[in-house]
Amino acid sequence: MTENDFIPRPYKNSIQDGNITWSSPSNIALVKYWGKKTNQIPENPSISFTLDHCKTITTLSYSAKQTQEKFAFEVYLDGEKKDDFKPKIATFFKRVENYLPFLKNFHFKIETSNTFPHSSGIASSASGMSALALCLMSIERALSEDMSDEFFIQKASFLARLGSGSACRSLEGDLIVWGTHQQIEGSSDLFGVKYPYVVHNNFKNYQDTILLVDKGEKQVSSTVGHGLMHGHPFAKRRFDQAHENMSDLMTVFKQGDLDRFIEIVESEALTLHAMMMTSMPYFILMKPNTLEIINRIWAYRRKTQSKICFTLDAGANVHVLYPENEKTQVLDFIKKELLEYCQNEQYICDQIGFGAQLLGNDNQ
Ligand code: DP6
Repeated sequence: MTENDFIPRPYKNSIQDGNITWSSPSNIALVKYWGKKTNQIPENPSISFTLDHCKTITTLSYSAKQTQEKFAFEVYLDGEKKDDFKPKIATFFKRVENYLPFLKNFHFKIETSNTFPHSSGIASSASGMSALALCLMSIERALSEDMSDEFFIQKASFLARLGSGSACRSLEGDLIVWGTHQQIEGSSDLFGVKYPYVVHNNFKNYQDTILLVDKGEKQVSSTVGHGLMHGHPFAKRRFDQAHENMSDLMTVFKQGDLDRFIEIVESEALTLHAMMMTSMPYFILMKPNTLEIINRIWAYRRKTQSKICFTLDAGANVHVLYPENEKTQVLDFIKKELLEYCQNEQYICDQIGFGAQLLGNDNQ
């Protein structure tokens, strides 16, 4: 597949107005995407668990308009008009216009809500952009004569990537690869694909408890952070390492080796933050409580032989990952020893999920 395969042929059908609702989850990367080329092409392959409970639900209402010079849309979050979301969506529309030539033919109302608190510091761009991309694909499907489910999902992921890189890994589950990797058949820089090989039962229903350490606005956005990988002194080595870690994870997924899984996942999280600390300008997104939690997870693991581990996004929150059979003990440990390091003792219990869902489609 190339970019050109996503430019549609002239549409056969015409539609006037209607609305579509999709829910789409967040995801947590095991091998991290950090650094990109132009057009949202990642510098290295990444792989993530799709989450189940952390989701965005988006309703896109559309009505045909008379003039076609400009984009016309408004955005609502939890029923409240959000004009500050408009520039990001306008940039997205510009990036995907070539692939969705109907965008200027309609007036859109985008109504969105998240299942997680929006000030939680949990990235909503992955779930938000993937939900919007899916709604737009439902319109394209209505305009087109026929479209396979495979193409629908692939193009939705391709569009979501142009909104926010990690969003292309949110459409399906439970393990998604984005970025070309020599050993992973079908992997692509253009969209996310399901991890195509058998995964050991140890990873079924893997748990992710998200500890909300700091809910404040990040000082440095992911987009700026990615940019700082250009000319970064360790960039080349880091991108190579991501390829190596992907290869190692393939063996881990096959054999169910949880000790090696822990090593790779924690190293990836710390490497991500090490890249931030060694860029110019440098920055630190972890907070003292992030480190407290990491140390307590390590102590608990030493004491109990648990297979608990942590990973981090581009922020201070900690994702605590563990196998389902440890759920009771680990939740007990989290409540007793980790919640005191969370802002207002807030946390979210999540687990591996299976991707986006169409909740409503009403075409007139
Ligand atoms: C640290 O996908 O948010 O979460 O493409 O600029 O929108 P943009 O960046 P974004 O970056 C996420 C980076 C990460 C790692 C990951 O999810 O792989």
